[in-house]
Amino acid sequence: MTYDDNNNPTTLVLGGTGKTGRRVAQRLTTLGRPVRIGSRSGEPPFDWQNRATWPPPLDGVGSVYVSYYPDLAVPGAVETVGAFARLAVERGVARLVLLAGRGEPQAELAEQAVRETAAELTIVRPTWFSQNFSEDYLLSPVLAGEVALPAGDTPEPFVDADDIADVAVAALTQEGHVGQLYELTGPRLLTFAQAVDEIAQATGREIRYVPVSIDEYAGAAADQGVPAEVVKVLTHLFGEVLDGRNAHVADGIRRALGREPRDFADYARETAASGVWDVPIASGVQR
Ligand SMILES: NC(=O)c1ccc[n+]([C@@H]2O[C@H](COP(=O)([O-])OP(=O)(O)OC[C@H]3O[C@@H](n4cnc5c(N)ncnc54)[C@H](OP(=O)(O)O)[C@@H]3O)[C@@H](O)[C@H]2O)c1
Repeated sequence: MTYDDNNNPTTLVLGGTGKTGRRVAQRLTTLGRPVRIGSRSGEPPFDWQNRATWPPPLDGVGSVYVSYYPDLAVPGAVETVGAFARLAVERGVARLVLLAGRGEPQAELAEQAVRETAAELTIVRPTWFSQNFSEDYLLSPVLAGEVALPAGDTPEPFVDADDIADVAVAALTQEGHVGQLYELTGPRLLTFAQAVDEIAQATGREIRYVPVSIDEYAGAAADQGVPAEVVKVLTHLFGEVLDGRNAHVADGIRRALGREPRDFADYARETAASGVWDVPIASGVQR
C-alpha cells in the first residue's frame, strides 16, 4: 500500500494511549482519519516485547506513529525498533513518524535503524515533556506537595505534548515533512525547581522542590514500587542526559508548524484549571 491522501489508509498509533500517542490519535480522528491504537490494550493488542503481536495491527495500515516504551535508551530498544520498522515497510507501510529523544545517543541509533528502512520518515526529537508533571511519574509528588529530584540547576526547555502531537500529525497527514528532523522544545528554559514553582503558583498550593542525589532518588523510586527498568531509565535521564546538553531552545515547532511553541506557564495554568492537581480534602493535605 502506498501513502495516499485520497485513499486515507489507517494510521497505527503506537503508544496510542500514552502522553503523545493519545493526542496524535485524537487529532487524526478529528481529521476523519482511520486510526488504530497500537498498545497492549489495543485491539488487536501490540506488545513491543512480543514480536508475534506485531503483524496483526499492521494489517491495512499506511502510516505509523512510532513511540517506543519505556525509552529508546533501554538495552535492545534500537534493535527492536529497527526490526519493527522493517516489518512495517515490508507489510506496505509507506510513512513513519518516529518519536525519538533529544540529546540521547541511543535514540540516535534508533533513528538510524529506522532511516535505513527507506520509508517516508519524519523524526521528532523532543526534550522533557511538561506532561510528566500531570500524566506520569511527577504527578504523585506534585499532589503530595514535594517534588524530590536529582535535577540540579540544569535548565530544560520543557515541551508540551500537545505541540509534539501537532507536529506528528502534520508529518503524518501533510506533505513537506518527509526527511525532516524536528528538535522540539518549549520557548523557555526552566530548572525543575522553577517548573515546580510555576505549578505551585498556578495551583495556589505550596509545592516544594527538594534536591536529592541520584542514589536517594533511585532508592525512593524503588521503595514506591516503580519498576526497576523504569528506575534505570529515570536515573539515566537525570544522571546523564540532564547535564546541560539540552539547555537551549530549538526551532522545530516553528519550522514544522509555523507558530511558536506553547509556554510552560500556559501548560501549568490550563492543567491547574483541569483539576488534575487538586488534592482531595479528605487526604488532609492543605489545599
Ligand atoms: N516523557 C518524556 O519526557 C519524554 C521525552 C523525550 C522522549 N520521550 C520518549 O517518548 C516515548 C514514550 O514515552 P512516554 O513517557 O511518553 O510514555 P507514554 O507514551 O506515556 O507511555 C505509555 C504508552 O506505552 C504503551 N505501552 C507500555 N508498555 C508497552 C509495551 N510493552 N508494548 C507496547 N506498548 C506499551 C502504553 O499502553 P498499554 O499500557 O496499553 O500498553 C501507553 O500507550 C519513549 O520512547 C521516550 O523515550 C519521552
